[in-house]
Parts: sequence; C-alpha cells; structure tokens
Amino acid sequence: MIPESFVQELLARIDIVDVVERYVPLRKAGANYSACCPFHSEKTPSFTVSPSKQFYHCFGCGAHGSAIGFLMQHAGIGFIEAVEDLASSAGLQVPHEERNRAERAKKAPLTDVMARAMMFYREQLKASPKAVDYLKDRGLTGEIAAKFALGYAPDGWQGLQQVFPDYNDAALVECGLVIVNEQGRRYDRFRDRVMFPILDQRGNVIGFGGRVIGDSKEATADGASVGPKYLNSPETPLFEKGRELYGLPQARKAIQEEDTVLVVEGYMDVVGLVQSGVENVVATLGTAATDANVQKLLKQASRVVFCFDRDSAGDRAAWRAMEVSLGHLADNKTVEILQMPGNQDPDEYIREHGKEAFVQQTRNATRLSEFLLRELVKRANPSTAEGRAMLVHEAKPLLQKMSAPILRVQLTKEIAHRAQVSQAEVEAECGLKPLARSRYAPAQMKQRPMPSSVEYKLLQILLHKPEWAANLPLDLIDRERVEGEALIAIADAIEHGELPAGGFGLLLEFFRDTPHEALVAGIAVNMVEEVDLGALEAMFNDSIVRLRHTALTAEIEELTARARQGLSQEDRQRLAELLAKKRPAAPSTGGTPL
Ligand code: UTP
Ligand code: MN
Repeated sequence: MIPESFVQELLARIDIVDVVERYVPLRKAGANYSACCPFHSEKTPSFTVSPSKQFYHCFGCGAHGSAIGFLMQHAGIGFIEAVEDLASSAGLQVPHEERNRAERAKKAPLTDVMARAMMFYREQLKASPKAVDYLKDRGLTGEIAAKFALGYAPDGWQGLQQVFPDYNDAALVECGLVIVNEQGRRYDRFRDRVMFPILDQRGNVIGFGGRVIGDSKEATADGASVGPKYLNSPETPLFEKGRELYGLPQARKAIQEEDTVLVVEGYMDVVGLVQSGVENVVATLGTAATDANVQKLLKQASRVVFCFDRDSAGDRAAWRAMEVSLGHLADNKTVEILQMPGNQDPDEYIREHGKEAFVQQTRNATRLSEFLLRELVKRANPSTAEGRAMLVHEAKPLLQKMSAPILRVQLTKEIAHRAQVSQAEVEAECGLKPLARSRYAPAQMKQRPMPSSVEYKLLQILLHKPEWAANLPLDLIDRERVEGEALIAIADAIEHGELPAGGFGLLLEFFRDTPHEALVAGIAVNMVEEVDLGALEAMFNDSIVRLRHTALTAEIEELTARARQGLSQEDRQRLAELLAKKRPAAPSTGGTPL
C-alpha cells in the first residue's frame, strides 16, 4: 500500500504536461496542450492535456485521467509501478508500508542475479556456434535474437560459477538458477539449452525458458535423456507463471498501434512471428490462459486473439481460454479464437506461408460468442429433445459467467432459438436477470447521474471549490443519486482533512477505484478552465436554496397525502408553517453551465 498522502504530494510536485511529453509530442493550444491521441489511431488531434486541471482527456476515444493514469495506460503498468516511476523522476522516495518494503528488499538482489545470468547466457551464445546455427536454422536473425536477449546456457554442471564466484549463494537457488540435490550437490538448472529470458512489465528478468538444441527425444551419448524440450524457471518470489506473458515488453508498442494483441502458446511462436514482421504478439507460459492473463491482455488492447494449434491439447486450451475470457468481457472488448489450419503452429505457419497469409488468418478468427455456440452445439446435438435440453444445461455455467450484458443477451437468444425454447425460459433456467430489469434492479438502486439534478450541479461547483462541501446541508442531499453520494464523499473527506487541495488531477486520484470515478471524470471533461468566483458562489447558494425547496415540497406533499386520513394537530401546524415558508418565489433552476 502506498499512503494516499504520498500520492497527493507526488501529484502536486509533478506536472502532467512533462509526464505526457516524455511519450507524446504536445502542441500548445490555448490554455491546454493537444496531440494526436496515443491510445487510438487518429489523424487530427483530439487528445488534450490541461495543466490547470492536471488532467488529460481524449475527445475521440474518451481516455482520461491524471498523470498516474496516463502512465498506467500508456505503459500498461499498474498503479504502484506508475507511482514509483513518477516518484523516481521527481526525486521522491515512495514510502511503502513495511511489508512491501521488506518484500522489495528481498527481491532486489534476486533481480540482480537474474540480470547477471542473462548477460552471461548472452555472452555464451556468441561463443557457441552450435547454438547460433540452431537459431539461424530456425530462421532467426541476430537482430531478433538481440531483441529478445536470447542466450545459451553452456553444457557443464556449474557454468554459472563463471559469473557467480560465490556459487553457494542462496539467492541462486532462490531464483531457480541452481538446484541442490539430495546429497547437497549444487548444479545449474539450465545446461546446454537456448535461453529465452522472461521479462516483467518493467523489463526486469524474472525467469527463463530453456530449449534443448535439436530434438528432445534424442538421447545423449551415455544414454541419458536430455530432459523435456523446454525447461522453465520454477515459481520464485520473482516469477509467478500464471501471471506473466512472454514478450509483452517487446510487443507493447505494436499492441497499442494495432489495438490488438495476439496470444500464442510458445516462446518460439512469439519470436518467429516477430521475425516475420508480426509484432503484437505475446505467449502464455506453457499454462492455459489464466484470469490474470486475460485481465492483463484486455488492459493492453480492445481486441485479443488467442491462437491455438489444431491438436487435442490446443482444442482444450481454446475451450479453457473461452471460459476464462467470459468473465472479463465487456461489450466494447472482443476476444477471438484462431485455430491454426493444418497441423502447424503459428511459427511454422508464418514461415511457410508468410506474414500476409498469417495476418489474414487472424482476421478470420472466430468471435468468442460464435466459438462458444459452435462448440456447445458440437457437444450437445440439438436435433433431439434430449440434445436441446443438454444444450441449455451446458450453456448455463457459461452464460452465468459472462460479464458483458448485451453480448450475453445475444447469446441467450441464440441458445434459446437452437434449444427451441423462449429467451425467458433460458434466463429463468440459468438464473439470469433480463437486461431491462437488471439495470434497474434493487441491487443497484443508485440512479444514473442526471445532469439536471441539483446534486449534479453542486458537484460541478465543488470540483472547482471542494472546500465548500463543508457548507452542504448533507441531510438534504439525495443519497440515492450517484452524484449525491459523490458529494457526500467529498464532504466526508473535507471533514476528515483527507481531501487534496490543488488541482483537479488530485481530486480525480482521490476518486480512483470508487464508484464515482467515471462520474467525476465525465464532469471534468466539460468543465471550463476559468470561472468567475462570484458567479460560482451565487450558483452554489442558489443550488442550496433549490435543495431546501425540494425538501420542503416533498414534505408538503407527504403531509398533504396523509391529510386524507386526517392529520394530528401538530402535523397541521407543521403543514401551515411549510406552506408559509414556500410562498416566497421559488428560486430559479438555472445558472449557466460550468
Ligand atoms: P510446444 O511443444 O508447442 O513447442 O510448446 P513450440 O512452441 O512449438 O516450440 P518449438 O517450435 O518446438 O521450439 C509450447 C510451449 O509449451 C511450453 C513452452 O512454454 C513452450 O513454448 N512447454 C512445452 C514446456 O514448458 N515444456 C515442454 O517440454 C514443452
Ligand atoms: Mn513450434
């Protein structure tokens, strides 16, 4: 955890214009700066950065946020990493809480060890004609080998001794480079293998994959097997297989340009595709796609294409990827599945048929919904009543898992059609809420923001002057409105001295990961830069009067309705009072938009 106060201090110290300019050339345009948006492709600039709000926004694709958000989105990194990056550029030390600091201190020497090992393996590759020839035979140039920092782990039990004179160092074992056998003898995990370093998002080496040279089934001269074709680093404090994607740092730019990420199964598929000019590609690490993988992938691009070999393992992996993806879909994201034709993997395919043919294959990939339907129909043959029942039965867990509401409705309809039942029957059987009801269901009681509400106007005002929240009559604010909730959150923060002062970006950070984030950002986009304080204050007071007026009216209505059954003496008196109060002219409902 990074303390909120530090995030505020950091945002107050840095300037979003500098941060964005590190990646995107900006042009001054009035009070703001503009550029072609780095997050979608466009010819005329609709990306603006506001120095006064410390906020960026693209009118084309809707991307927006603070300096931290920009870095997260642009580099595809997490919140903590973005904060660390900005802090180091501002010369600030991030005050991690103790547990994290201890963890980091533990990791630092391991990262170091891994980096040194990678350098060693790279040097060894240059010295090994056998390994170089192998890579050349597989069609790789020196340029691509360098891009992926490929290396060679020499034959011999303790090759790493050359770079780690203290071969007994526990760190070597901890990061999986050295194995201790039962007799306590230590030896290199990777021997006589081509080495593929696995990098994290910041470019640190966290693991390796090592491939035997040639065919793994060949036995060595003394009859011993050379082990599996690929040997991977074990799970270590640095390396958690299910979270990482091979090739991501190298692919990031291409992924952004194409707004598509291709996911393949092997190290060689990644390297081979890049060699042939397809660069927006990453691989899962010998495991089926995990939730963490899919989440990360959908953050990088709005289209994810999984490419699988056409064998039984590949088919199982495709089904698994579909299941996992269902839970992370949104209606504006697509996941597609490409089952490679013939018996070729992507690397073999592109080498034989070339880049264009491969790209064409990816264009014809199967949409997730289509894949799901096709596979379901294959499993449950709907030409019989039993088959149709089976279809709904098999579809149930998948539909329940699906997070994209509109797409789910489409699929529900398709399945209902094939099963010869109604959509409502499928929904009832699967316990799905129909769309219209789910949107207004009591579970999500909050009303959608309404720009004409007083609360909305107040929120607009408070984004300029958060400190005025101290003067809000909280009991009169409609808490059923999201904008009402946001107002109360600001007022609470003011009361507890938690609200950052100075710049809109700070306020936006304050709302990160809260239900109010989108609302506040939406208001910010339309906010004018300079406001007349006097006019703002008048609008604020006017809004408060409107709040009181609304409350008054509601109470009068309530009392009047009850009057039919007769009112107590007290109630009658109260009603008279209220009516008298209401008589002075009702306040205007207007004010110019902020
Ligand atoms: P494949 O067996 O499909 O190999 O394994 P490949 O990618 O086509 O490799 P080449 O072309 O023969 O060099 C796909 C992935 O599965 C994992 C690796 O991550 C590999 O890239 N794997 C495979 C292992 O971890 N161990 C193995 O023994 C085999
Ligand atoms: Mn292959």
